[in-house]
Amino acid sequence: MRRLALLTVTALALLAACDDGAPQPTPQIRPLWIEDPTGPAPEWLSQTGLYADLSAGTPAAGVLPFTPQYKLWSGGADKGRLLYLPPGTKVRTDTAFWQFPVGTVLSKDFSYPDVEGRDGAVVIETRLEWLTPQGWRYAQYHWNAQGTEARKYPDRWGDVPLELLPTDPQADPFVHTLPSELGCDGCHGAPGNKAVLGIDPYNLPPELVAAGIFDPPVAPIELPARTPEEAAAMGYIVANCGHCHHGRKGVGENASYSLLPHGLVANTVNQDTDSSASGDGVRVIPGDPEGSAIYQAVVKARDADYAGQLKPMPPLGIDRVDPEAERILRAWIESIEGLEDNP
Ligand code: HEC
Ligand code: HEC
Repeated sequence: MRRLALLTVTALALLAACDDGAPQPTPQIRPLWIEDPTGPAPEWLSQTGLYADLSAGTPAAGVLPFTPQYKLWSGGADKGRLLYLPPGTKVRTDTAFWQFPVGTVLSKDFSYPDVEGRDGAVVIETRLEWLTPQGWRYAQYHWNAQGTEARKYPDRWGDVPLELLPTDPQADPFVHTLPSELGCDGCHGAPGNKAVLGIDPYNLPPELVAAGIFDPPVAPIELPARTPEEAAAMGYIVANCGHCHHGRKGVGENASYSLLPHGLVANTVNQDTDSSASGDGVRVIPGDPEGSAIYQAVVKARDADYAGQLKPMPPLGIDRVDPEAERILRAWIESIEGLEDNP
């Protein structure tokens, strides 16, 4: 993890407005918003009822912190996630997509280490996802510089780049982009997919299993991997690619093939890309990472001197290459040289 300090915020008046005027702690009004989240999300994050102490990050009673087994990489940010289920309800697991009860509220915050390297010290934004009788709703909160309160963006906000400066003077500054509301749908509301992305049979947060929230109870699916490196690649791809490459129609012809664990080998090893929009190539050539389209799309396609036609993957949500992706994909492709294609 690179050490970062928050340097500047782009000159949007909107953000300036978020940075000052942190309110005095608001007395909680009952019922708390999370107890009846049918209206719009409240103006301030402290008013949602998700936290007992917002600046300390302490969740309220009944709110469960969780960490997916496999995580989406977002430019190196640390993330904290919370789940609230209405009292007495459970997540139904006997349906194709697991069914969350109406009134479910989920949150995810994004933070970076401070100049002294303390993880999670500089909190930037918190995202909310909740289920109403009319469907899933989204909101996003931007934190003040003191990390004591966060304010909701107005509806239909735009993408907002924040420039972050690494404390390592040799490293380039980079940008953490607050996505537009439409950006939530790009991943969470995509046709042919479910809205909750970090909780499913391939990606089961252990704390939630222990909390007994699933009905019927579930255990994680075992990965059909031939090598430990292949297992690592399957996990990485579940969290970073599976919300688009899930094998059902939805995101677009070229992305509709499955990269989920049970399709990964069959759909990639010695398989040509679908070249109508991306470049020609073979998705995975065992023993040859550089020659494999998957590796090129994830690791090379963001380079200024990349000469191929493949689009950078994932196409949304990051501006630079994940060093772990480089390592994991290379190790996988090298580890399967000479193996049978079908596990
Ligand atoms: C680039 C794709 C992408 C975009 C854009 C995106 N998300 Fe997510 N989000 C994910 C993935 C994948 C997960 C699960 C993995 C994880 O949390 O590491 C997730 C997790 C979450 C969670 C935790 C619950 C869950 O679904 O697992 C919340 C809450 C959330 N996102 C809210 C939002 C909101 C609100 C927006 C828009 C402001 C948004 N996200 C934009 C991909 C995205
Ligand atoms: C937000 C949705 C999304 C995510 C996440 C995503 N992709 Fe894609 N991917 C697409 C789309 C759309 C295309 C088709 C692009 C085009 O050619 O126009 C595509 C195309 C590709 C292609 C080239 C086309 C082919 O036939 O193989 C590869 C390789 C690929 N993705 C790999 C990945 C990998 C690996 C990841 C995860 C690290 C990933 N993608 C994450 C949407 C996504």
